[in-house]
Amino acid sequence: MCGIVGVIGNPKAAEIILTGLGRLEYRGYDSSGLAVLNNLGTLEVHKAVGKLQSLLDKVKATPPSAASIGIGHTRWATHGSPTEENAHPHTGRLGGVNLAVVHNGIIENYQELRAELSPHGAVFRTETDTETIPFAIANALEYGGGHFIPAVRAATQKFRGNFAFVTLKEGDTTQLVGTRRGAPLCIGVGTGANYFASDPFALAGVTSKFIFLEDDDIATLTPTSITIQDAKGNPVTRPTKTLDLSEDMAGKAGYKHFMLKEIHEQPAVVTRILQAYTSAKTMQPTLPLEGLNLAEIPFINIIACGTASYAGMLGKYFLEQFARVPVNVDVASEFRYRNPPFPPGGIFIGVSQSGETADTLAALEIAKAAGQKIIVFTNAPNSSMARAADVVVDLMAGREIAVASTKAFTAMCLNLALFALQVGAARGLPVAEVATQITALRTLPTYLTNQLNQPPAQFEELAERLTAARSMLYLGRGTLTPIAFEGALKIKEISYIHAAAYASGEMKHGPIALVDKTLPVINLASGTDGLFEKTVSNLKEVEARHGQVILVTDDEGAKQLDDATRSKLTLIKVPTVPPILAPMVFTVPLQLLAYHTATAKGTDVDQPRNLAKSVTVE
Ligand code: M6R
Repeated sequence: MCGIVGVIGNPKAAEIILTGLGRLEYRGYDSSGLAVLNNLGTLEVHKAVGKLQSLLDKVKATPPSAASIGIGHTRWATHGSPTEENAHPHTGRLGGVNLAVVHNGIIENYQELRAELSPHGAVFRTETDTETIPFAIANALEYGGGHFIPAVRAATQKFRGNFAFVTLKEGDTTQLVGTRRGAPLCIGVGTGANYFASDPFALAGVTSKFIFLEDDDIATLTPTSITIQDAKGNPVTRPTKTLDLSEDMAGKAGYKHFMLKEIHEQPAVVTRILQAYTSAKTMQPTLPLEGLNLAEIPFINIIACGTASYAGMLGKYFLEQFARVPVNVDVASEFRYRNPPFPPGGIFIGVSQSGETADTLAALEIAKAAGQKIIVFTNAPNSSMARAADVVVDLMAGREIAVASTKAFTAMCLNLALFALQVGAARGLPVAEVATQITALRTLPTYLTNQLNQPPAQFEELAERLTAARSMLYLGRGTLTPIAFEGALKIKEISYIHAAAYASGEMKHGPIALVDKTLPVINLASGTDGLFEKTVSNLKEVEARHGQVILVTDDEGAKQLDDATRSKLTLIKVPTVPPILAPMVFTVPLQLLAYHTATAKGTDVDQPRNLAKSVTVE
């Protein structure tokens, strides 16, 4: 949520900031801004409401002065609506000090701070929590000896909540200061210039060397030096990592939207995962799970948010089936405040594309403090969650830009299937059975490729019809239940049609009251799971109440439909596959349906309203 870029020592500061913000825009896109200190040290602030393009248009009309130091921000509003006033950078002038700040996260006690700072002369002009940051630092500078870093520390010691911010001081072109607690912030190491960013991706093409800050580190950048102090003020060195971001810069590769590109990348993602985490020789899973006693696991918690939580739901089915281990799946925002008991020796699995989701990170910290072994399945192996974990499994989905997750979901499902098999193998699942499942999984890329090579006409036609829907139901059984939840979330996120998902068996316990001729009901059913007849009964019940039945089934299921039933429904066919592949194969049509419905409605597919890619606030 929100994107931060800072530059010192590069005469193209504004240009680098704007390019970086372009890369981070998927994290927040309601307003943006930048501040530079021109070569005389004078502060210039440029802000605009709406997409980054508005800011680009503005600075084209009124370019910032030549500057080698600056900060920029793309915002996802928390406190205060998306207005120019509320856009970052925020400034705070007290006495002779004027500071500018870009911030990600929430200063929860900002009301308290405002009350404290106002008598000292702070004049608050915005509705934001962020505005307290420059005033709190300026106040500490004015009354605390005039040194920048101690003033930043004194201010942050008063802040409650998760945050990352970068600040510069008018009149001082020699240093740029950044700090974090909970929210991500890294340093891009350059030559003759250094950088801050909330995500290394912002600096792709600028540098490949990065330092990831720990909580409460305060980093001071000059053009030629980087100094970091830890929470206690001790000088510390954090490791420098070299990242290859070249693939991340590929853009849309000819696709109209990142989401469509990412849907089409799924066969390659799945191939990459299978190559990395299965042995072609033994047909056994080879996830990097060193240090875990898989045979003795008494209990597993899988905790995540949104799409990742649906992958977690699927993980439970796989773990119960293959590893015979009890599993709890929960959304992180509930788990973290529930005071759950932790069985000794238990495992906590956090699933997160970004590795930065605030609730999942907080749940993970709670489980860690309770002595659980922490495994994180993440697409960001340098993220906060990865750094806090005992074991990290890189999802290997490649950078996902579209706010609506697609390929990362499939990567989560596949990695959790492999995990279940690996735990199963350690707990006595016969080697031959594991090999059968891995052999099956290795056919997944071909099935996905074939699905994605089909012309989109069927989805386009159905999508046209769905644009009129005000609400939809998604139903599934067994491993297709989590997929129904994911399908419903996808259509909500990008086409703004309300959708709810249920296990098919729950239909009669309430949701059936919603059925009338306006309600599309999407049923997911495989003809091979022995439950198809039950699904047909469920869809007959919908049909009898004049609901619009859309059946997603495999060839085997389609064969079991009589002509009368078939004539009354819309059929979306997927290939008949071994059961372990079914959730991934059934996901594809739901992604395409959501995508085409959104494009038919003309919504902003990659940056849907009100959402942000990485939810770093509660
Ligand atoms: O980065 P994470 O996987 O932790 O994100 C969790 C959710 O915010 C995320 O899956 C969200 O639901 C997506 N927009 C789904 O498309």
